[in-house]
Amino acid sequence: MLIDPKEFIRANMPVLPVPSLPEIVLHSATPASGLRRLIASDDNPDPEPPYWAYHWAGGAVLARYFLDHPAVVRGKRVLDLGSGSGVVGIAAAKAGAILVIAADTDQNAGVAQQLNASLNGVRMTSIHADLTTGPALDADIIAVGDLFYAPDLAERVLGFLDRSLVAGSMVLIGDPGRAYLPNDRLQCIAEYAVPDFGQVRDATVNASVFALI
Ligand SMILES: C[S@@+](CC[C@H](N)C(=O)[O-])C[C@H]1O[C@@H](n2cnc3c(N)ncnc32)[C@H](O)[C@@H]1O
Repeated sequence: MLIDPKEFIRANMPVLPVPSLPEIVLHSATPASGLRRLIASDDNPDPEPPYWAYHWAGGAVLARYFLDHPAVVRGKRVLDLGSGSGVVGIAAAKAGAILVIAADTDQNAGVAQQLNASLNGVRMTSIHADLTTGPALDADIIAVGDLFYAPDLAERVLGFLDRSLVAGSMVLIGDPGRAYLPNDRLQCIAEYAVPDFGQVRDATVNASVFALI
């Protein structure tokens, strides 16, 4: 049976405040959500994990930073790369970004982002695409929450971010220190203790907002 992702998310992912970001609510995965029903099919029995359904430390710190320092994004055009739930883009829009584009390779992420944007009373454009292999986009800020968890992905992301720096964008990365973070290129500008996907309830990890230099 074909499942409508919008209906599925509304019915099975309750609207909850994000830990460490009480200003933002998101459709959130719970043990009862049964996400496999949405993502697995006879054609694709081993799908990509639905990372968009969860809260990640990298996205949480970037979102926290934008909410705490709205001047960073106010009036700016922001690209939220690897946007998942859209939490980073939503925070940027709440903080006054003039345009927010959320790009993710998972089609269901775009559906969740649009539902989440309207829950939070902001507008955001969702793009279902892998921008990492293409040219830089015309954006003032590229925000990257938790995208350095796999070596091939990290290499492509860094290539895109380098092209973005050359094109004049500011690149901000939120990350708890995943394995493929380009540490020698980062300047730490903020640090927070936040929950992370896979941690026990109420536990936190230290994660940072970095400028790519
Ligand atoms: C760990 S999650 C982080 C989500 C969000 N940024 C956050 O911090 O909450 C990584 C997200 O990146 C997406 N992703 C993976 N490869 C990508 C690519 N090449 N381009 C865009 N998105 C990608 C995944 O689908 C997933 O939603």
